[in-house]
Amino acid sequence: MQTTWNSQLYENQHAFVWQYAEDLIELLSPQPGERILDLGCGTGQLTDRLANTGSTVWGIDADATMVAKAQQNYPHLKFGQADARNFQVEEPVDAVFSNAVLHWVKEPERAVECISRALKPGGRLVVEFGGRGNIQAIAQALTNTLESLGKSYVSPWYFPSLGDYTILLEKYGLEVVYGTLRDRPTPLQDGKTGLANWLRMFANSVFADLTLEMQQQMIQEIEAQTRSKLYQNGTWIADYRRLRIMAVMKNV
Ligand code: BEZ
Repeated sequence: MQTTWNSQLYENQHAFVWQYAEDLIELLSPQPGERILDLGCGTGQLTDRLANTGSTVWGIDADATMVAKAQQNYPHLKFGQADARNFQVEEPVDAVFSNAVLHWVKEPERAVECISRALKPGGRLVVEFGGRGNIQAIAQALTNTLESLGKSYVSPWYFPSLGDYTILLEKYGLEVVYGTLRDRPTPLQDGKTGLANWLRMFANSVFADLTLEMQQQMIQEIEAQTRSKLYQNGTWIADYRRLRIMAVMKNV
């Protein structure tokens, strides 16, 4: 299952993805002159915030349309297309930063291995992504709805616990110095169409082999199943749970 990205829809209706990450940048505390990799840069907003601190930033993303939009938004910054499971840096960096990306990487060990190779000894990894229990109500409704159509649900996402991800990082020499897993209910834009927009943006791979009519029915069914939990005063509130980690590459 391959997620296809619509960079326009992403920028116009899902700005919360980067707006929530301001304090993740504070956790990283980038210093002027540091070399930083923004892993999964999307349309570049956080790459730009990082660059504004005086660091030298390189944004990479697996999706060509996202990279093109990032480059158009910030022509003075450096972006490239690369997969989190298979990337290299020209020279080891002081920090790897990544927001709302690693839950898309279903081969997490490959990503952690690349990250560990990219970091200098003492370099920092600062990441936030969906952790265990993320979007539980939405995923349950997706499962129920697909099963009612005689199809099985294969999650396109990876939502680990803090313990599981810590073990993985340690295997590659990264020591966790800060880690939390917490609920972060996330209001979606555009009132009553918020959840439908979210599903079309982020769950399109799950719908891929359904007709447009079936997709529409499925979305309505998911809304019906989650409304009592996730719809409040005219706004859909996605049941996000965020894993936030800072880890340091051991000196070998
Ligand atoms: C998240 O940011 O938690 C997320 C985004 C899209 C799909 C699943 C999870």
